[in-house]
Amino acid sequence: MTKNWTPDSWRGFEARQLPQYPDAAALAAVEQELRSYPPLVFAGEARDLITSLADVEAGKSFLLQGGDCAESFAEFHPNTIRDTFRVLLQMAVVLTFGSKMPVIKVGRMAGQFAKPRSGDFEEIDGVSLPSYRGDNVNDIEFTPEARTPNPQRMMRGYLQSAATLNLLRAFASGGYANLHQVHKWNLDFTGRSLWSDQYRTLADRIGEALDFMEACGISPETVPQLKGTSFYTSHEALLLGYEQAMTRQDSLTGDWYDTSAHMLWIGDRTRFAGSAHVEFLRGVGNPLGLKCGPTTEPDDLLRLIDILNPGNVPGKLTLITRFGHDKVEAHLPRLIRAIKREGKRVIWSCDPMHGNTIKAVGGLKTRPFDQILTEVKAVFAVHRAEGSHAGGIHLEMTGQDVTECTGGAIAISDAGLSDRYQTQCDPRLNASQALEMAFLIAEALKGEREALKAAQAA
Ligand code: PEP
Ligand code: CO
Repeated sequence: MTKNWTPDSWRGFEARQLPQYPDAAALAAVEQELRSYPPLVFAGEARDLITSLADVEAGKSFLLQGGDCAESFAEFHPNTIRDTFRVLLQMAVVLTFGSKMPVIKVGRMAGQFAKPRSGDFEEIDGVSLPSYRGDNVNDIEFTPEARTPNPQRMMRGYLQSAATLNLLRAFASGGYANLHQVHKWNLDFTGRSLWSDQYRTLADRIGEALDFMEACGISPETVPQLKGTSFYTSHEALLLGYEQAMTRQDSLTGDWYDTSAHMLWIGDRTRFAGSAHVEFLRGVGNPLGLKCGPTTEPDDLLRLIDILNPGNVPGKLTLITRFGHDKVEAHLPRLIRAIKREGKRVIWSCDPMHGNTIKAVGGLKTRPFDQILTEVKAVFAVHRAEGSHAGGIHLEMTGQDVTECTGGAIAISDAGLSDRYQTQCDPRLNASQALEMAFLIAEALKGEREALKAAQAA
């Protein structure tokens, strides 16, 4: 049991990025009600994910984490969930084929609602209102009523998470994720993508391999792994009142788990020393993510690691680095060296999105595909030079054909951004761009594998 920790001990620490609710009694009533609701995930699943992530730490697997920047109530639809899930499956197939490693799939789905903001207020034409903080806090519409934090929205967030997770579980185990469907996962509009041919070729090769295996007696009927897949959920543990209400003691081990998702992460703005978010997450048994940015100092990072993973358990902690395409070399090597020196067991995952947000001509927030790719390549190069495993990728993406990030094979221009710009928050890769990214990362993983082989042979 974690020392001096209770699900509400975070309340004695500095909590940034939490909404100011006007009605404390209404907030307490909602939190009380949520405490009696069923957990969304089971502690044993969170432990299974740690076990799988330990293989990533050991260099034997790869972590694919992706989904919306912010899920929304308005976009809640089975097709949206299916399409994002489907692209993640396609990407996992591409990555598995390239890396010859199992790929652990974790969605930024079924609970990714709360958003940290750079300012508490937003000003438009001289009018200042509370910033939009995600659909489980307030509404994006710019009116005083919409922007007032409303605790009832947590209920809606819980119910949407439950329904989303239910569908994801059905897809993952009910036959949709059967590897024999690999051709059918091709989305209509990837038919126009330059990468869809590549995907089809790959799907053909996988189909042939499956036919061969079937002839040898290995089929979904005899090997259940071929019939379904494991799929996990994750979000930023930002809205601590909600997370606390979802935190339950596991009857098997007596340990506490945040049952709102399998994996939870701490954002770049809430990972400071003395943070309530760090205090909360140090007590739960879930696998954790920790965002690391240009302001992350090696010594501070080591202290955080000791707090979040005092037992140095492999698979427990994933460092999600997000520096910006031109800042990787300046920051990543010194973090890797500090971790190595102290013998810390961490997974290195690359978030090439959050350090590469710019304003396009026309004023929309965007991320150039080239810069995203540049960060990925730089991260792989640094890990190769330092002898560490580039263990994962963390993407903001959707299965929809949106126009939010510029570039990619079907080049989206600044002017084209407004065609289908739908994000509630940060710009996401669309389905074609996400698949393209998977092919390019698969190349990098292949390179890593070949370099390792060459080093072993030498
Ligand atoms: C995010 O992942 O949506 C996010 C806000 O990231 P960061 O904390 O790295 O800025
Ligand atoms: Co984001």
